[in-house]
Amino acid sequence: MSRSDSSGDKAYKIGTETGAKNAPAPANRDEALLLDHPLLSNLKTAIVLLDAQYQPIYLNNAAENLLEVSASRVIGSNFVEFFAQPDNRHTLLKQALTDKHPYTERMVKLLLPDNRETTIDYTVTPMAEAGRSTLLIEMQAMDRSLRIDRERALHTANETSRNLIRGLAHEIKNPLGGIRGASQLLSQELERADLHEYTDIIINEADRLRQLVDKLIGPSTPAILAPVNIHEVTERVAALVQAEAGGAVDIIKEYDPSIPELNGDRGKLIQAVLNLARNAMQALENSSVDNKQIILRTRIVNHFTIGNTQHRAVCRLDVIDNGPGVSDDISDRIFFPMISGRAEGSGLGLPIAQSAIHLHGGLIECESEPGCTQFSVYLPIRSEPTGQANH
Ligand SMILES: Nc1ncnc2c1ncn2[C@@H]1O[C@H](COP(=O)(O)OP(=O)(O)OP(=O)(O)O)[C@@H](O)[C@H]1O
Ligand SMILES: [Mg+2]
Repeated sequence: MSRSDSSGDKAYKIGTETGAKNAPAPANRDEALLLDHPLLSNLKTAIVLLDAQYQPIYLNNAAENLLEVSASRVIGSNFVEFFAQPDNRHTLLKQALTDKHPYTERMVKLLLPDNRETTIDYTVTPMAEAGRSTLLIEMQAMDRSLRIDRERALHTANETSRNLIRGLAHEIKNPLGGIRGASQLLSQELERADLHEYTDIIINEADRLRQLVDKLIGPSTPAILAPVNIHEVTERVAALVQAEAGGAVDIIKEYDPSIPELNGDRGKLIQAVLNLARNAMQALENSSVDNKQIILRTRIVNHFTIGNTQHRAVCRLDVIDNGPGVSDDISDRIFFPMISGRAEGSGLGLPIAQSAIHLHGGLIECESEPGCTQFSVYLPIRSEPTGQANH
């Protein structure tokens, strides 16, 4: 996108010393007083006022934060270029201006610096003051609520399938115990040794089914929480994966050593991260890329919401690989049990990892495209959250 950042001289951000200095002469004194109101700069809703050429003449602080630019850089630019699909928005804004009709659009993508995107709901209200036509834009960032909705849907679906599996597992395990016991008794009664082969098959298959069912139900032991250094976890996983991959994959460690200890179950955390790293390794095994690599990266993220809890700081652990990416046909279901893209996969690695991280009040997210697949594990750092999110 080519967004003009240059015309700082036309800028004015009302309500601050600097802004007032940069302000062009407002149309009249009343307008200046109105825009100079702390009410606007303190609003959590992002507000932008456009002139008839779609150039911003005012941005409040919330709009600066949402767009990740300072008012002085935006004023004088064409605001339409902030939209990922500028042509459609230009038509709508033009219509609002000529018809004097307000409109609202939902889930619209805006472009941020560094080609990042954010999703917003926004309302445009045409205004005509002192013979001048303007457009008032109110914007609300939706990424956070989108993420929370997605996470909630996943959590509910996981709970539902887990309950179903638990019920089914119970029904399978009971008769299985009977079958196994009866086969053992039968085997003791059998005099012909060659017939033992058949009872052995029954016993072995019953054991295999029981193991599968146990794996499906997930870990039965409760989490034992104690202070854990996240890098103990990543180091152990790196060593295991390195040994399994036998030098075919480079493990790159990008740690933030300042991350404090977490309250966690070391074993369960290793299991969860190992499942992610193994998936990365298996994806790389089947890829033709030359420099196969897995990055283990740790970072602190401030003010992050998991479920309904807003945390002051969380630890983010990324497992990134440069393999072919998660295939499109399963990408929205990979955290569900028995979903696998591999012929020999059982589709349990990710659901087990997700429930282990849930036990810690955390969450796993995935972003994938060919050449870059990133699984991010978020774990709360402090036990005391900052409060309940109001979503
Ligand atoms: N890093 C990755 N790159 C590409 N695809 C992945 C990656 N991680 C997971 N997947 C896809 O998600 C599917 C589900 O993963 P999951 O770990 O739950 O099961 P699995 O690996 O198939 O079997 P299991 O882990 O039980 O042995 C995988 O089969 C694979 O298709
Ligand atoms: Mg797996």
